Amino acid sequence: MPPAALDQRALRQAFGRFATGVCLAATRDRMGRPVALTINSFTSVSLEPALALWCLGNDADLFEDFAASPFFGVSVLRPEQQALADYFARAADHAIAADLMVDAAAPAPIFRAALASFSCAVVARYPAGDHVILVGEIQSVHAGDGDALTYFQSRYGLAPAPTLGSSP
Ligand SMILES: Cc1cc2nc3c(=O)[nH]c(=O)nc-3n(C[C@H](O)[C@H](O)[C@H](O)COP(=O)(O)O)c2cc1C
Repeated sequence: MPPAALDQRALRQAFGRFATGVCLAATRDRMGRPVALTINSFTSVSLEPALALWCLGNDADLFEDFAASPFFGVSVLRPEQQALADYFARAADHAIAADLMVDAAAPAPIFRAALASFSCAVVARYPAGDHVILVGEIQSVHAGDGDALTYFQSRYGLAPAPTLGSSP
């Protein structure tokens, strides 16, 4: 049984207390153009097989594009890439300029200079309330070094890279 009157504002505030990284999820639209939107719902799922997921809003402009595409790419952003996060959260046109991508012809577009990236083949789509959960099998991966862009209480921030000797 759902709670009778869960306060929407309290729910948003509580969700916002979970600090996350910021990513760009990208695919190709029905015309084959690379397109992206800003997400913070990316989650690692499984090492073997290699799986990750993220949640796509049912009202997103790119909903039909992600629903139809067998591939997506996720690029984890650096603090210097905050302008990209802003742009792809608001864009009227979500098309990605060719010079922003590692490989403009890739089916799962990845952004240049991302802190990390995942090229995925969609293995499951689960409707979940006002979002759909997209699960991808990771086909290739890249991990760089440096600080991470974060999102916490509706604000961007920075998670510093661990200093030498402090990483596991
Ligand atoms: C930091 C941040 C995280 C976001 N995370 C998600 C997400 O995980 N899933 C999603 O569908 N939209 C997410 N959004 C919203 C989309 O980026 C975009 O703003 C939304 O889809 C509305 O744009 P549209 O109307 O052009 O589709 C996020 C926005 C911001 C700023």
